[in-house]
Amino acid sequence: MLSSLARWSLCSHVCHCHFKPRSFSSSSSSSSSSSSFHFSPWSGLQAWRRSPLNENRDWGPNGPEPQLFSTLSAADDEHDARIGEASSLAELGSLVLSTSDPLIKSRLSHLAYSRWRRENLPLGQFTPPTRPARPEQPKLVSPKDIPDPKKSGLPLNAYLLHNLAHVELNAIDLAWDTVVRFSPFSEILGEGFFADFAHVADDESRHFCWCSQRLAELGFKYGDMPAHNLLWRECERSSDNVAARLAVIPLVQEARGLDAGPRLVQKLVGFGDNRTSKIVARIADEEVAHVAVGVYWFVDVCRKLDSPPDSTFKDLLKEYNVELKGPFNFSARDEAGIPRDWYDPSSSGSLDKRETNDQKKQLRAVRERLASIIDLEGENCELTR
Ligand SMILES: [Fe+2]
Repeated sequence: MLSSLARWSLCSHVCHCHFKPRSFSSSSSSSSSSSSFHFSPWSGLQAWRRSPLNENRDWGPNGPEPQLFSTLSAADDEHDARIGEASSLAELGSLVLSTSDPLIKSRLSHLAYSRWRRENLPLGQFTPPTRPARPEQPKLVSPKDIPDPKKSGLPLNAYLLHNLAHVELNAIDLAWDTVVRFSPFSEILGEGFFADFAHVADDESRHFCWCSQRLAELGFKYGDMPAHNLLWRECERSSDNVAARLAVIPLVQEARGLDAGPRLVQKLVGFGDNRTSKIVARIADEEVAHVAVGVYWFVDVCRKLDSPPDSTFKDLLKEYNVELKGPFNFSARDEAGIPRDWYDPSSSGSLDKRETNDQKKQLRAVRERLASIIDLEGENCELTR
């Protein structure tokens, strides 16, 4: 461990700091240390990690099911061959990031993860592309230029689904970028870090498949309306700092998905599209794992840096100018293991109040005990007189 930490410091000094350990401790505002921090990881984490490859990439009449038919073009064969020739997980991830066609990217993401799992390939090291390859459509615009549903030319269900498809496509790239970009630091981060984020990329690729399939059923496709590039911008900004990447992407961006999921489902039910609502509900449910993985590794990185996770998280959000906006889906966030006082200022107040009440109770108990001892002493004095 000592040698890892030494190399960590060396890396942070030499290569423009992928971890920035000192910046945390200097700006840290909490008095608690990383060793005194306790959190409960998501109860399903180990089962998710051990789960077999998920081939349910179609959405059948009753939910997810394996793809029965897939027609592959010569171009698909060429992409598949490149996946077959890659010699490490980092190289596989880089191939996915360099693929622009969304459906091919999604398919390759699954092929890459499957090949790595089945053949037990090494992690390796690779330099990811600066930006992931993207299709010509959708046009990427400023968020204020995204048309509202009535002006988008799409019915509300397709509009919502298109937005979700865009999030899922970004999520594939975000997860693979985390695998590839931080691959030179496997000795410090541990192989499990990369296994988890490759698994996330595979889940996201399945989500994109379901969204694309449903869009096609509704007569639309991904690219039929503009989208924004905010999600990737956050990823780019955290490229030199693994703790920031974990704070900004899984703990903020993906956690927002947990907040939005039930509202989206309700809108789709209100619109009368139960099939899409079921797809969205399933996706929202599966996102808990991705936030949970983020919390797990964020805490792990903080422990290695000996930085308190709670204040480190808050300091990073300030440093990267990331805003936390409610309303929060507390139950899903609790399930994923994000402590409430990290994102909800009112809960730390209530925590303080709870602590104060507990302290008052303890003081009252001590006073009562002292009073009974004094009474007892008094009675003893009376008896011995
Ligand atoms: Fe997803």
